[in-house]
Amino acid sequence: MSKIRQIGVLTGGGDAPGLNAVIRALTKSAILDHGVRVIGFNDGFSGMVEMKTHELGLHDVRGILPRGGTILGTTNRGNPFEYVERLADGTERVSDASATVAKNFERLGLDALVVIGGDGTLSIAHRLMQEHGIPVVGVPKTIDNDLAATDRTFGFATAVEVATDALDRLHTTAESHHRIMLLEVMGREAGWIALHSGVAGGADVVLIPEIPFQVEPVIAKVWARQNRGTPFSIVVVAEGARPKDGDQVYQSVDPVTGWKRLGGISYELAPILQGKTGLEVRVTVLGHIQRGGSPCADDRILGTRLGAEAMRLVMRGRFDHMVALRGEEIEAVPMEKAINRLKLVDPNGQLVRNARSLGIVFGDEDPDEILDTR
Ligand code: F6P
Repeated sequence: MSKIRQIGVLTGGGDAPGLNAVIRALTKSAILDHGVRVIGFNDGFSGMVEMKTHELGLHDVRGILPRGGTILGTTNRGNPFEYVERLADGTERVSDASATVAKNFERLGLDALVVIGGDGTLSIAHRLMQEHGIPVVGVPKTIDNDLAATDRTFGFATAVEVATDALDRLHTTAESHHRIMLLEVMGREAGWIALHSGVAGGADVVLIPEIPFQVEPVIAKVWARQNRGTPFSIVVVAEGARPKDGDQVYQSVDPVTGWKRLGGISYELAPILQGKTGLEVRVTVLGHIQRGGSPCADDRILGTRLGAEAMRLVMRGRFDHMVALRGEEIEAVPMEKAINRLKLVDPNGQLVRNARSLGIVFGDEDPDEILDTR
């Protein structure tokens, strides 16, 4: 294996708290441990297409551990295989710019590329290795915690903290006004953020994509609480939740990439609940608050471990692999095992069962049982 002297690093897709911890750990261990130079690409793969780069030195990563976002910048629209270019007349053109990425990788004299991203970004990295021979190492990232082959992704713990804090706040105002409060959280096709924050925040109802819901059990739960003198309820709704006989709700669809942004299901649910219970219903869509701000300690630690281990994989030449948390250890996983496969909540899994035994409703129960037993 040829000697590693210089590597590139980029962050792709949506940001997540803890990205800077990865960049810092990678850069520090590259320089201090291995004497390797690090070139950062700005704004994901578009930085590789358009040669937006700068060298990362120790001073560049000083003080970034508590910082949210990514010092490198990122984008959802940087896929070099379907590169979106904005033309002078304001229209957009899609073309394959992957050969430019490979050429720029050579021109910069890089020996490896570390790609920090979610499923989409890691799939692109794998393809760049397969089709253009770029030696890549992946670092999994997403607040959604939905990546296969890793037990947890950094950003998730912070998102759950933020959503739990929101639930605590909603509880006090819900109780004062005797209202039903809906909190819509992120997560795309996975209900991890909703489930974890719902349990941590003492929600009465948790609606997740993995368990299509009906309104009747939700209403039964609200009445059961009402009947025992608790005239308010807290409902966590994952943005990807869908009614048993209906569809997910999208905010928008990107006309060029076809990317669908989920969101708004709770606005559809609110008038139904209000109409059927006669109680006031209010909606809070937490949105990007879950992604912004300082990472919690767990996400800083996980990001740091992944960054340092990614550098070790580079030095050992274990390309086309991603670092992943398995149990207590960070391991190397072949990229193809990690991509195009979502890790979803198991509707029969332990945490769902524990939640059910506390009386949390998921919307698939028999409404009569809720009235009878709770
Ligand atoms: O994948 C992370 C995530 O925050 C999802 O939970 C959410 O659906 C999506 O990104 C939002 O994307 P954007 O930042 O493009 O609106």
